[in-house]
Amino acid sequence: MADTSLKKDQTAKPEDGNEKIRILAFLCNWCSYAGADLAGVSRLQYPPDVKSIRVMCTGTISPHYILKAFQEGADGVLIAGCHIGDCHYLKGNYATAKRFRVIKDLLESIGIDPGRLRLEWVSAAEGEKYADVIASFTEQIKEIGKSPLSKSMGRDVNKSKAQVADESV
Ligand code: FES
Repeated sequence: MADTSLKKDQTAKPEDGNEKIRILAFLCNWCSYAGADLAGVSRLQYPPDVKSIRVMCTGTISPHYILKAFQEGADGVLIAGCHIGDCHYLKGNYATAKRFRVIKDLLESIGIDPGRLRLEWVSAAEGEKYADVIASFTEQIKEIGKSPLSKSMGRDVNKSKAQVADESV
């Protein structure tokens, strides 16, 4: 059984230099997803290493989803939602902000660098901010390196499900 109780984020940077990093972004439908859309429509340049999941509110993001993302080989997880006071469900992002601090501590206690998780408030009008957040978070994750979990789980996150299925036949 794989030992996932690493005492520290044992990232091997040198040989990982050319490996593609994987960032999963949970984006609130009402603000940050629209901000990402605006960045795209405005043709702003930002790194392509992000896969996004649209959620109705950051308050719906269970800590379980974040842990699962890391378990499945994500190198970084971004949560982006409406600015404080602008949540369409009133208090969703307040809950997210509280939960975020707890999850950071939890990550550290299980040996995942808490810098791999980031929370940002990005409105629908902030396409430029969205592009900047993606660029700086990507840079941060590259500095931290590939996740030790993606290695210890023996997964190649660059393979598609079809490739994995082909190899198992
Ligand atoms: S609706 Fe955007 S964070 Fe709640």
